[in-house]
Amino acid sequence: MVRLSELGQQARENHIPVMQEEGLELLLQYIQEKKVKRILEIGTAVGYSAIRFASVSSDIQVTTIEREDTLYQEAVHNVEEFHLENQITLLHGDALTISVAGTYDFIFIDAAKSQYIKFFEKYKENLAEDGVIVTDNLAFHGMVEHPEMTSNRNTRQLLQKIRNYIDFLKTNEEFDTVFYSVGDGISFSTRKKKK
Ligand SMILES: C[S@@+](CC[C@H](N)C(=O)[O-])C[C@H]1O[C@@H](n2cnc3c(N)ncnc32)[C@H](O)[C@@H]1O
Repeated sequence: MVRLSELGQQARENHIPVMQEEGLELLLQYIQEKKVKRILEIGTAVGYSAIRFASVSSDIQVTTIEREDTLYQEAVHNVEEFHLENQITLLHGDALTISVAGTYDFIFIDAAKSQYIKFFEKYKENLAEDGVIVTDNLAFHGMVEHPEMTSNRNTRQLLQKIRNYIDFLKTNEEFDTVFYSVGDGISFSTRKKKK
């Protein structure tokens, strides 16, 4: 039986891009302090962050979406290993097309970075009135700030898409966003308060 502390380490050793511990701690603290109960995650990978979220409290429910078959199967296995089947619902499919019912207090976007705006626009419909949309990887290993770190054309295009998403958040008329430079760069977006 793999321990919780080993699951993330093992995933990283297998080159699965699970959340960095520092960023994860920030999310776990928020979940605990705000007594978050319903979480929707876009991008399960092997279920590491979903398992960490669910482990904060037994009354937390996590729904998480993964499109890659082998990763989804591995997540199913890991959720069973940790006996969290009653708290974690694993959905297999493309988050851009799958339909998800219900409202969530905390929506975590951690999937294809080029699609962040689309994920945000789609899933804000599932956000509870005072809920939060959290996004990871906004620094993209420091390259968003320092694009000279790469000369790869695809990476540069991706960096531009992340920058577009940051602008989208900064200029959004419906949501206020706070950016944290912890982990790989994280944002917390909440609905603007009505005046
Ligand atoms: C960064 S990993 C998720 C890591 C995970 N949240 C963790 O920290 O343990 C991103 C995952 O999103 C999945 N993904 C990317 N685009 C997706 C989409 N459109 N629908 C569903 N899953 C997607 C990828 O296959 C990958 O496993």
